[in-house]
Amino acid sequence: MSLRIKTLEDYHDAYKASVDNPEKFWEEQAETFTWMKRWDKVLEWDFHMADTFWFIGGKLNITVNCLDRHLETKGDQTALIWEPNEPGSEGKKLTYQELYNEVCRFANALKNIGVHKGDRICFYMPMVPELMIGILACARIGAIHSVVFAGFSANSLADRIKDATCKVIVCTDQNSRGPKISPIKLIVDEALAMGCDSVEKVIVLSHTGGGISWNNHRDLWWHDIMDKQSTTCEPVMMDSEDPLFILYTSGSTGKPKGVVHTIGGYMVYVWYSFLNVFQYKDGDIYWCTADIGWITGHSYIVYGPLLSGATTVMFEGIPSYPDPSRFWQICEKYKVNIFYTAPTAIRSLMAAGDKYAQGHNLSSLHVLGTVGEPINAEAWHWYHEHIGKGKIPVVDTWWQTETGGILISPIAGITDMKPCYASYPMPGIQPILVDIYGNEIEGNDVEGLLCIKFPWPSIIRTTYGDHGRCREIYFNVFPELYFTGDGARRDEEGRYRIIGRVDDVINVSGHRIGTAEVENAINEHPLVVESAVVGYPHDIKGQGLYAFVISRENVHDLNTFQKEINEKLTILIGPIVKTDIILIVSGLPKTRSGKIMRRILRKIAEGDLSNLGDISTLFNPEIVDEIIAKSKSLV
Ligand code: WTA
Repeated sequence: MSLRIKTLEDYHDAYKASVDNPEKFWEEQAETFTWMKRWDKVLEWDFHMADTFWFIGGKLNITVNCLDRHLETKGDQTALIWEPNEPGSEGKKLTYQELYNEVCRFANALKNIGVHKGDRICFYMPMVPELMIGILACARIGAIHSVVFAGFSANSLADRIKDATCKVIVCTDQNSRGPKISPIKLIVDEALAMGCDSVEKVIVLSHTGGGISWNNHRDLWWHDIMDKQSTTCEPVMMDSEDPLFILYTSGSTGKPKGVVHTIGGYMVYVWYSFLNVFQYKDGDIYWCTADIGWITGHSYIVYGPLLSGATTVMFEGIPSYPDPSRFWQICEKYKVNIFYTAPTAIRSLMAAGDKYAQGHNLSSLHVLGTVGEPINAEAWHWYHEHIGKGKIPVVDTWWQTETGGILISPIAGITDMKPCYASYPMPGIQPILVDIYGNEIEGNDVEGLLCIKFPWPSIIRTTYGDHGRCREIYFNVFPELYFTGDGARRDEEGRYRIIGRVDDVINVSGHRIGTAEVENAINEHPLVVESAVVGYPHDIKGQGLYAFVISRENVHDLNTFQKEINEKLTILIGPIVKTDIILIVSGLPKTRSGKIMRRILRKIAEGDLSNLGDISTLFNPEIVDEIIAKSKSLV
């Protein structure tokens, strides 16, 4: 079986082979890589127990496959192009050899300060090359990286550090993103004051040169510990099923959970999907605009591209700084061939006006991609026409932190595209739609809850420290299926369109936000008795946050109240989460057992009052009219 899908027939052949004999199919893909010991068995799985094991008994080190394997043929090829926040400042380029050297040096530095295989290392830093170097150095010595997006607050950071009992934190002095500077090291200090007892050392990269406070016993400068380190470091032999990383993500209930991915299967799947979805060819310049704080950055800035020997671009800044032409300037500057971004970015650039995209030479582009949230038809067409000049494929890739890699997506230029549709499953992926009772919805032109019925190599292995939660959330909702939490439609030809989350997760600007986390934070405001948060359609963000709040007293100044609530959210979660609308109500619709009927609130927030469903079973049906009347007064 060819590793590369080059024609439509190849896609159909690969898909069939992957379903007829998944073990054989994935074993053939895995043979591309360098293994220190071959696996004894390809796959064992039991969805009921949430257990999946791939390439059992196989021994390897993923960095050998990301770096060492390319040195002979691609040592001088650029592995990483780094574009800084300020357009005038100098960027950096690292060849495969240089990246290898830096990774080995940092791996040695980590060993020197007592980091061992299995230790958890937290990264809280902006998009700088050292973040990539750092996580690869962990993988080199078998430490588990846990990257926390640098837009989270000290509270969120502390929760994640404690949950994973991290031994070391790697951060910068400060972070510059767009026009803003944020005090990264200060936030780390604050988090550590919240009882992160496991942390022994904090490694600080001097980035902006801004002032910071220092703890002599605990803090180390990156440049000091790197000094005189050797540029070689023996890769530690790891088991295929040893954890590679933990990445926290929000769910319907409780605190964010640490999704765990293991080495062998993740490696095979992110490589296979990268190469095929984007049709990467040697020499192409590939740019994914995500942050390494999210799964997209892990799989498709770092691991997928490096495993494929690609040149990957990493950008520190934001699309609107210094103005909304920044993305297109960068595409022109580096002659980017493959560009992968989020619908939110596309919508905001579209709203800024066509003039920013005009006047840039975008002729190098040959594939465009999107990820993270549904892309509306208008944004899809704008992207296709204005950036792709109507000529190049747009791949709308659907996947999740838990899936590790892209599961449903067009194969660029090979399978067809239909706006709003993530289209067909990748080889190895067997989607199924079910109703709320778990019965399969067969046939085409149907809608249901999206599940996957067979494991793929990069499927979630566990939620860190709590396997029961992993079972409960993903594998025991419907027997023998992995439940995605998304609703989807299958069209007449079998393409999938992702409709959105069916659980209490809201997707704001492509960020996953759990309503429970937001409500807990809002309830901390002294005037708040209770709150319920739902998503509603938002032109730029995809979804906005609509909060229904019961307050202790009359709120006279709603603007100040909202500001205070948003400040609470900034402190407790991070500045990426803000309410867009607050509606003060005297009660929330509840069932007789006291559960908030979010379905009704969602409809009201969406302005869709045509079909509120049966409200007679509510404990307090009269409240619905009040909420509707108040919501109308907002518009
Ligand atoms: C949503 C991001 C529609 C979906 C890689 C999923 C999408 C959640 C798409 C996962 C897409 C992701 N079309 N919706 N192409 N891609 N989503 O874990 O609701 O940050 O469940 O992973 O984003 O978000 P996560």
